[in-house]
Amino acid sequence: MSETVRMDDRQIEYLDLTAELMSIRKLGDEPLAYVRTYGCQQNVADSERIKGMLARAGYGFTENVEEADFILFNTCAVREHAEDRVFGNVGALKKLKRRHPQILIALCGCMMEQEHVAERIHRSFPFVGLVFGTHCMHIFPELLYKSLVDGSRLIVRDNDDKLVHEGVPTLRDGSFKGWLPIMYGCDNFCTYCIVPYVRGRERSREPDTIIAEARDMIERGYKDITLLGQNVNSYGKGLSPRPTFAGLLSEIDKIEGDYWLRFMTSHPKDCTRELIDTIAQSKHVSLHLHLPFQSGSDRVLKAMNRHYTREKYLDIVKYAKSKIPDVSLTSDVIVGFPGETREDFEQTLSLIREVGFTSLFTFIFSPRKGTPAATMDDPVSDEEKGLWFRELLAVQEEIAAERCSSMVGRIEKVLVEEKSKTEGRLCGRTSGNIIVEFDGDDSLIGDFRNVKITQARNWILTGELV
Ligand code: SAM
Ligand code: SF4
Ligand code: F3S
Repeated sequence: MSETVRMDDRQIEYLDLTAELMSIRKLGDEPLAYVRTYGCQQNVADSERIKGMLARAGYGFTENVEEADFILFNTCAVREHAEDRVFGNVGALKKLKRRHPQILIALCGCMMEQEHVAERIHRSFPFVGLVFGTHCMHIFPELLYKSLVDGSRLIVRDNDDKLVHEGVPTLRDGSFKGWLPIMYGCDNFCTYCIVPYVRGRERSREPDTIIAEARDMIERGYKDITLLGQNVNSYGKGLSPRPTFAGLLSEIDKIEGDYWLRFMTSHPKDCTRELIDTIAQSKHVSLHLHLPFQSGSDRVLKAMNRHYTREKYLDIVKYAKSKIPDVSLTSDVIVGFPGETREDFEQTLSLIREVGFTSLFTFIFSPRKGTPAATMDDPVSDEEKGLWFRELLAVQEEIAAERCSSMVGRIEKVLVEEKSKTEGRLCGRTSGNIIVEFDGDDSLIGDFRNVKITQARNWILTGELV
């Protein structure tokens, strides 16, 4: 059972004290913070809260690590590669700290919740002054102030994962696209995954708080809001009376305005027909369903502890396609899970062909210390896994290209997001989350426009304003 609490007033006082302290130290100049985020949207949303607190403490922000007074890496533990990048990038700060001893270097996020990582940081990175885990965000103001005043190292990890903290200041990165966390943690314990160990048990925010935050975002001009959780379909567990995710979605959908509502991630085991019906009947929910299948083989799905079969997955997809014409399906897939055979892998390929995903997030299995899969027999070589991985990418590329080609000639509503990297054009996304490039004026960024699709290049569309 989770409990909701307001952020302690004392923490806000610490932010004000930090502002005073830094104003004296910097002789009135604005102190600068560099915040780098690794990993998933959950971490991006956490960084937005940390930035909210830093802004309240008087910090401005810089993209240049060399000019920062406070450097924070918000880390990800999901794969070894993600961790290696963090260790490499932190190591590179050693010289900077030697040149500017007054800067404070801090690490937070999922990696820091692992004992062996915290120990390694303690041992090998003495120039890191502050380390805190995912459950300590609500005391970040106190940790920051104490580190600045005291100068001694603070390594804090807290195992209390039952509370939901509200009232934490938030500074969103975008002004028209925004993340809205509806729950934290995960109870699913897929055998390959570290997330439940580093994010704690699943706990949901109260529906009224979420709806109020969504309303506030819409009133402030947000056009694309993504509701976040590791398994949004089990939203509401532990709340009384228990709300459902479909219910929450339709309540938010009632808010007037021109906006799209997205959500991620949907776990297939809890994806109901009621949810699909809600999407089909809604005014604002985008025509996009991110539904990670991970593997097309029942044997592997069982070993992954995913609690659904290939048949059940395909059944949901069939229902979604029948109720939501043009639904754009995306997914996560893992290649090379321990014990996966060529036959299992071919089942994955055949599922990809059968569904016709718009795009896929593809991963090679990475053993995570402390998870059951890390000690399972894994006879397939890395080279073989690499070959399978490339084969899968080639199949998906073909499917994505076909899907995109079928859109040529259509007129699509597009949210204009930014200048594209090619030829100074504009770049936006359709409701199905497909990228579209077209010519237009920068002033359109942040608005919806209709675009006629004229060409498809793999998974990117090009078009012209209507
Ligand atoms: N909660 C989401 C779900 O269940 O689909 C996924 C969250 S996880 C942060 C994102 C993706 O990382 C997973 O869907 C999975 O494909 C991948 N992943 C997680 N652990 C992994 C591992 N040990 N090796 C490779 N990929 C992994
Ligand atoms: Fe990891 Fe599974 Fe939880 Fe997703 S549902 S975060 S893959 S344990
Ligand atoms: Fe990484 Fe943590 Fe997300 S491990 S993928 S940042 S929940």
